[in-house]
Amino acid sequence: MKYIFIKDIAQYEGQEICLKGWVRNTRHSGKLVFIIVRDGTGEIQSVAFRPDLGDDKFEIAKSLGLESSLIIHGIPKKHPKLENTYELQVTDIQPIQIAHDYPISKKEHGPDFLLENRHLWLRSPKQRSIMKVRHTVYHAICDYLNQNSFYRFDSPILTPNACEGTTTLFEVPYFDEGSAYLSQSGQLYLETGIMSLGRVYDFGPVFRAEKSKTRKHLTEFWMMDAEAAFVEHDENLAIQEGLIRFVIRTVLEKNHDDLVILERDIEQLKKADAPFKKMTHREAVEYLRSKGSEIDYNSDLGAQDEAMLTEGSDVPVFIEKWPQAIKAFYMKRDPENEDYVLGADLIAPEGFGEIIGGSQREDDYDLLKYRMEQDKMDLDEYKWYLDLRQYGSVPHSGFGIGLERLVTWMTGTKHIRETIPFPRMIYRIYP
Ligand code: 4AD
Ligand code: MG
Repeated sequence: MKYIFIKDIAQYEGQEICLKGWVRNTRHSGKLVFIIVRDGTGEIQSVAFRPDLGDDKFEIAKSLGLESSLIIHGIPKKHPKLENTYELQVTDIQPIQIAHDYPISKKEHGPDFLLENRHLWLRSPKQRSIMKVRHTVYHAICDYLNQNSFYRFDSPILTPNACEGTTTLFEVPYFDEGSAYLSQSGQLYLETGIMSLGRVYDFGPVFRAEKSKTRKHLTEFWMMDAEAAFVEHDENLAIQEGLIRFVIRTVLEKNHDDLVILERDIEQLKKADAPFKKMTHREAVEYLRSKGSEIDYNSDLGAQDEAMLTEGSDVPVFIEKWPQAIKAFYMKRDPENEDYVLGADLIAPEGFGEIIGGSQREDDYDLLKYRMEQDKMDLDEYKWYLDLRQYGSVPHSGFGIGLERLVTWMTGTKHIRETIPFPRMIYRIYP
C-alpha cells in the first residue's frame, strides 16, 4: 500500500493509500468515528464506519486519545460540501501508541502552563504555523542574499571578546585560556570575510545576557549578519529594504494558509511591501518631543518611542544617523557631522519595533583605534580587527536581522517567545 503525505492527498482520490501521523481530534456517533489526523504536512478528517472496519478495529478507533500515533489506511474522497478538501474513508487502523489524557486541551491555558509544556504545545495549529513561517523567513533571507552575490561565512559562537558591549555577555570557562564568551553577533568576523569574498553573511544563534524582560527579548536568538565591501550607508539601507520586501512577498506567497490560521491581518502585511521611510535620529526625537515625549537628543529609543514613530505608517521606517555617544565603537562617523554615525535601525510597523541594526563601519585605522581607546577596549585582543584597517581597508557596511523579531512581525505574534522552538529567557531554560 502506498504511504503518502496528507499534502499530496488530491493526487490519490479514489485509490487506497496509507497515512502515518497523530490524532488531533475525534468524535463518534453511532456507527461512525471521525478522526482528524495530522502528519506535519496537513490535516485530514478520516471517517471510520463500523461495518467497513469490523467491531474490534472500530472499538480501537473509538479509544484513540488525543495525540495517539497511528497508521491509517483509507480511500480519499472529495468533501461533499467544502472545496479543495478531502476526507479519508477509513479501511484499516493500526495504532502505534495510544495516548491518554493529553495535557493540552481546547480550553484556554495560561502562558506558564504552555511554556512548561512547550515540547507538546509545538503541536498546536498556531504554533505549527509560526514554525512554518519561521522556516520560510529563514530560507527567504538566504535565497535573497545568495542571489545578490553574498557568500555564507559562518562566524564562531565561542569568542574571546565582545561585539556589542561587555555588559551583556555570557561567560564560559575555556581550558587554560581563561574565559570565552558566547557571541552576541558575528559582525566583526564577517568584516574579515568581506576582505576575502566581497560580500558575506552568517546565520546562527547569538546570545545576550541583558536583563530585559520584555515581549521582544530572548537571551538566545538567531541572527543573520550581512556585510559587504564597497557598500556605503545609502546602499546598505537599499539592500536591507530589498531583502525585507522579498521576505514579505515570499511569506505571503508560501504561507497564506498559516497566516489565516494565525489570524494575521494579511492586507496590512501586503501594504508593507512598498518603499520604506527614512528619518534621522534627530528628526525622530524632534517628532517625539512635539508629541509630548521628554526624550532627549542623546537617548536610545524605547519600545513606546518606536511604536509612536511608526504609528500610521504601513511600511517600516529607518532611523538613521544616530548620536555617536550611544552607538557602538565600530560605526563610521557621518562626514557631515562628526557627532553622528552612519548607523540605522529599521523599525517595523504595527508596533513590532526594531528588526534590524546596521551601519557603515569605520574603515580608518587611526579613527577606529581612537574610538576603541575611548571605550577602554583592550587593543591587543582586537589586533586582528584593527589589522583589517591596515591591509587593504575599504569602505564597507553591514547589518544584522533578528530572525525571531522578523517572524514575530510576519506572523503578528504578541510575544517573541512563540517564534523559536525553545525560547530562552531570563526566567526560563526548561524544556
Ligand atoms: O541591533 P543589534 O544589537 O546589532 C548588532 O548586533 C550588529 N552587530 C548587527 C550587525 O551590524 N551585523 O542586533 C541586531 C538585531 C536587532 O535589530 C534585533 O532584531 C535583534 O538583533 N535582537 C534581538 N532579538 C531578540 N532578542 C534580543 N535580546 C535581541 N537583541 C537584538
Ligand atoms: Mg539594535
